[in-house]
This record gives sequence, C-alpha cells and structure tokens, in this order.
Amino acid sequence: MSEQAEIGLVGLAVMGQNLALNIADHGYRIAVFNRTTATTHSFVGSEAAKGRPVLACETPDELVANLKRPRSIILMVKAGEPVDQQISALSPLLQEGDILIDGGNSHFRDTIRRDRELADKGLQFIGTGISGGEEGARNGPSIMPGGSEAAYDRVGGIFEAIAAQVDGEPCCTHIGADGAGHFVKTIHNGIEYADMQMIAEVYFIMKSLLGISHAEMADVFSAWNQGDLDSYLIEITADILGQTDEETGRPMLEVILDRAGQKGTGQWSTAAALELGIAAPTIAEAVFARNISAIKEERVAAAEVLKGPAETAFTGDKASIVDALRDALLASKICAYAQGFAVMQAAKEEFGWSTDLGRVSMIWRGGCIIRARFLNRIKEAYDRDPDLKNLLLDPYFKDFVERGQTAWRRIVAMAAERGIPVPALSSALSYYDAYRTGRVWADMIQAQRDYFGAHTFERVDKPGAFHRGWAGG
Ligand code: 6PG
Repeated sequence: MSEQAEIGLVGLAVMGQNLALNIADHGYRIAVFNRTTATTHSFVGSEAAKGRPVLACETPDELVANLKRPRSIILMVKAGEPVDQQISALSPLLQEGDILIDGGNSHFRDTIRRDRELADKGLQFIGTGISGGEEGARNGPSIMPGGSEAAYDRVGGIFEAIAAQVDGEPCCTHIGADGAGHFVKTIHNGIEYADMQMIAEVYFIMKSLLGISHAEMADVFSAWNQGDLDSYLIEITADILGQTDEETGRPMLEVILDRAGQKGTGQWSTAAALELGIAAPTIAEAVFARNISAIKEERVAAAEVLKGPAETAFTGDKASIVDALRDALLASKICAYAQGFAVMQAAKEEFGWSTDLGRVSMIWRGGCIIRARFLNRIKEAYDRDPDLKNLLLDPYFKDFVERGQTAWRRIVAMAAERGIPVPALSSALSYYDAYRTGRVWADMIQAQRDYFGAHTFERVDKPGAFHRGWAGG
C-alpha cells in the first residue's frame, strides 16, 4: 500500500479540486474520491495535480483504507441530500474518533442534526463554512469551522495552513459547537447579499440619474477602493464596470440581463434573523431585491402601467452626489454589518455557542467575498467592548455614521423623490433611525392588538399587563 494520506476529500467539482490542490500545496498528502471515477482520474492526472501528493481512490472503501487514523474526510458536495448520502456511505466504514468535515454551504440546522447523528456513532463532525469561491479555495479561503474543540484541534492545523493569511494570521478560527460554523457562514452570505445590493443601488443611481459612463464609474469605484470602502466587492465592481463585451463592443453590464438568481443562503440568513427575533431589514431587503429582480417580465409590463414622478434631468453638481453616494454606501454598509453581527450575537446566546465575534471579523479580513479593510475596525470595536450590543454604538462607527448621515439622507430622499428604488440603502437608514429612537410607534401597535384581540398592553407608569374596553366593551 502507498503511503497513507493525511486527509481525504470527496467531491471533485471545481471547489473540491481547488481545495484539494491547496491542501496538497501545503505538503499534506490527500486522497480524493468522486462518484464519477473518470473525474477522479482526470483530476489526479491533470497538469494542475501533477507532482503533487494527490492520491486517486475509486471507491469509498479505498478512500478510507488510504487514510491515516484517526481519519479526516472533507465532503465538498452540494448542500442538502448529497451530504447525507455521502455520510451514509462513509460512516459505516469509519471508526470511533474519525472526523467527517462538511465544507459546503449547509443549513446550520442540518449540521446540528448530522453532528448528533454522527456523535451517536462515535464519529466527529465539523460543519465548516468556506468562503472565497474558486479562487479562494485554490489560494486561501476564509474558513469557519464548527464542531467540537477536540475535533478542531485535530484538523485545525491543516485548515489554518490552507486559509488566507492576513498580517501573518490565518483567516480561520474555531467558531463554536455543532452548527456554529455554518451559521456564521450563512450570516456572511447575508451580509454579502446586502453589500452587493447596496453597491448595485449606488451604481444604478450613478448610471440612471447622473448619467455617468461605465468607464468613469469604474474610476470612481477604483478610487473608493483606496479609502474606507476598500474591499473585494468594490474592487470587482470597478473591474466589472471597466469591461466591454467583445461581441457588441458595448459595456459588459449593458448586455447582462437585470435578473439575479440565488442559491438560498441569503434567505436562510433572513429566516434566522426572523426566528431569533432580530431586526436585519437590510439583509432581508437584499434578498427581496433579488426576488423583485427575478420577475423581469412582470416589471417590464408594470412599467407600462404604473407611473412614478415626472422624470427631470439632473442638473446639480455630479461630483458632490458621487461623494454623497460614497458616504451613503459606507453608512449603509455599517448598518448591514451591525445587523449581521446582532443576529450572530443572538444565535450564540440561543444555541450556547462560544463564538468570538471579534475573531469572526478577523477571519473575514481575507479570503472571503466580504473581505474588507473595514473589518479591522469591527475587531477593534469588539476589543473595546466584547459585549458590544450593536456595532453602531462603538465610537468609531457611531462617528462615521453621524458624519455621513447628511449625505446618506440626501441620497435616500433624492432617490425617493425621483422614484429610483434603493431598498437596501433606505432600509439601512430606517434601521439606523429606528435604533436611535428612544420612543417609537409601538404604543399604537400595543393599543391596536389589545383593541381587536385583548392581547393586553404594558404601561409606562406601572408594571403589569393591562386590558382596556376600547370599544366600550
Ligand atoms: C462565498 C460565497 C458562496 C456563494 C455564492 C453564490 O462565500 O464564497 O458566498 O458561498 O455560494 O456567493 O451565492 P448565491 O447564489 O446565493 O448568490
């Protein structure tokens, strides 16, 4: 038998292949298995894998037989049923203490269930969020492993070696028990949705109201990428804006249909916020914005019927609006992160996870889709106050939003006046305003509930639950 491998990997789609190469590059011998044997052999025989310690296995038995004990196997298969299928195929072949790692975008409740089922069999399970797409998997992703500390101690070395490195620190940390890793990855994706939507709204205003060319917009985003907005998503936005369609010679975005799909993690993120009772309206709006984008034909038909305000050409100072857009984007982004972190805080309390939110912001600084300079500031905020209730309360973010709010309000008001949809930017502003309003409208809600359903209400001047005969009843 050839030398046994350090780790196994199942599922050789692009992410699986790239992760396997990344692991092999770091000197770990890796055994790989794919349901279609031809894929396994073409990958192991490929130029990319040549000369690397990658071992092809044709069956789950062969994979298991080729692993050092205790064994560790990463599953890189589609979330959902395929994960359960692979677990059912592999677990009877494994022995006490062996570890299965799910590196897909699984729902955290599935991960909690699988963790329990495998624990009953004496096996360990690490549900692991991996962010960064194909490029990240190959050159260093951000890795969010859940599961037990003991299991993490066994494979953490490999994870930390293959993760992106920022300031000499790996973008990988143990997130907490059972489903914590996949939960944090889900919230990462919720923030990703919000971030993308807010950028798209800003682009939309520049294009449709200010009439700025794609090339000029590319320059604006490139310039923003040198400042506080410095992030992967701003960088790729500039790149996208600068590209031309070879077939038509038109800017690339002009030939792309305005209809965005989704695989579900944004929805899960929103559902988690709803289940935990935490307001995350900007994340939710970003999901709804994709939903409304998806009904393209209906929108085109409605455009013929539903009229907005009369269109007037923009005559003001474009440069000052562009600056205001930058400030509005940053303030909105802070709100989206504040919402995501508030959801994670609630989840950690609900599920008893040990998640260190400051560490989460650290491992999102590199490798992942939402990587940004700004994440250092979030870490500093949690260093200042580990029990921070909301990022908006941290002095740095508080000042930032306060300074940017005039511009932010100007953009949202201008969009509303002109009938330009900005669901994420405006919901972020409403979130900020609601959060900073000591006495909101809910006195009326309480009264209405009590009026029609005798749900009772609380009073400001004494404790207890009260009911009033509102209609003289
Ligand atoms: C990542 C991404 C990735 C996600 C894609 C597509 O962190 O690498 O979040 O996991 O699958 O971004 O997601 P949607 O299809 O839902 O947009």
